[in-house]
Amino acid sequence: DWQYSLRPRRLAEYIGQDQIKHNLTVFIQAAMTRGEALDHVLLYGPPGLGKTTLASIIANELGVNLRITSGPAIERPGDLAALLTNLGEKDVLFIDEIHRLPRSVEEILYSAMEDYALDIIIGKGPSARSIRLDLPRFTLVGATTRAGALASPLRDRFGVICRLEYYDVKQLVCIVKRAADILNIAIDAQGAEEIARRSRGTPRVANRLLKRVRDFAQVTGDGVITAALADEALARLDVDQCGLDRTDRTLLRIIIEKFNGGPVGLDTLAAAISEETDTVEDVYEPFLLQLGFIQRTPRGRVATPAAYHHLGIPLKKEEQEKL
Ligand code: ADE
Repeated sequence: DWQYSLRPRRLAEYIGQDQIKHNLTVFIQAAMTRGEALDHVLLYGPPGLGKTTLASIIANELGVNLRITSGPAIERPGDLAALLTNLGEKDVLFIDEIHRLPRSVEEILYSAMEDYALDIIIGKGPSARSIRLDLPRFTLVGATTRAGALASPLRDRFGVICRLEYYDVKQLVCIVKRAADILNIAIDAQGAEEIARRSRGTPRVANRLLKRVRDFAQVTGDGVITAALADEALARLDVDQCGLDRTDRTLLRIIIEKFNGGPVGLDTLAAAISEETDTVEDVYEPFLLQLGFIQRTPRGRVATPAAYHHLGIPLKKEEQEKL
C-alpha cells in the first residue's frame, strides 16, 4: 500500500543519517563481493527515525529476502528456531524491539549469530537431549530504542552498530517534499518548511503531519499547503512551534508545577502523566533532552530555563539555583 511505498527502497533514496548510509554502502558492497552474508547490524535510536526502513533497504541492496519480527513476538526458543530454519542463505532477519526478547530466547540467539547453529533441548527430564541444528548464514538486523537495554553478550555479537540521530529541518523538508510528491499533495516550500520544523526531528511524524495538514488544506483551504495553512492546521492538531504535542507539554508542566522544576524520578513522572515508564524514556524524553528542555541528573529529571521560557512560566529564584 502507499504507506509502504513512502518508504525508500534503496540507500540512494534514503535522506539523512549520512554516516550510517555511507558506511552501510561499503559493508554491503564488501560482503557481496566476498559472497558472504553481511555481519549482524544493530540499529538504535528513538522511534520513527527509520530503523525498519533501513532493515528493508539492507535486504534490498543485498538482493535477499527480509523476515520481520519483534522481540515480544518470539516467546519461546522454538519460535526462534522456526524463524531461523526457514531463512534462505544470506537472508535478513529483522527483530524490532530486540531488547524485549525473553532471556531463554536471547541465550540461544548467541550461537545462532556466532556459529550459525542452534542448540535446542528436546524432551523433558531424563530423556531430554540437546540437538544442534545448522542454520543458513544470515544477517540479523536488530533494532532497539536503547542500546543500553541490551545485555552486553548480545550487543557484542553485532559487527555493525549504528546510532540513528534526529533529522535536521533541511533533511525533513526533503522528506516532506518527497512524500508530498508521491502522495500528489500540493505544497509550497514554506509549507514544507513549517511541517518539517514541527516534526520533532522524526520522518514518521513529518509524514503523519503532512497527511493531517493535507486534510485541512482540502476541507478548509484550497487544497494547497502553505505556511499559513500549515500553521493553522498544526495549531488545531495541538502541535506547538517546537513540535511538542500535548503530552510533551504536560510532562514539562508537571515537572515544573508539581515537582518545583525537579529533580523527579522517571517512574514518578511517568505515573503522574499516566504513561508507561518505557514510553516516557524512549519516546518523550529523548526529544525533550535534544531540545534542551530537560536534563537528566543522578536524582532525576529537571526542567531547564528553556522549558520555563517555552511554556511562558516565570522561573523562581530557588529553581534557578538548582541548575
Ligand atoms: N521517508 C521516511 N524516512 C525517510 C528517509 N530517511 N528518507 C527518505 N524518505 C523517507
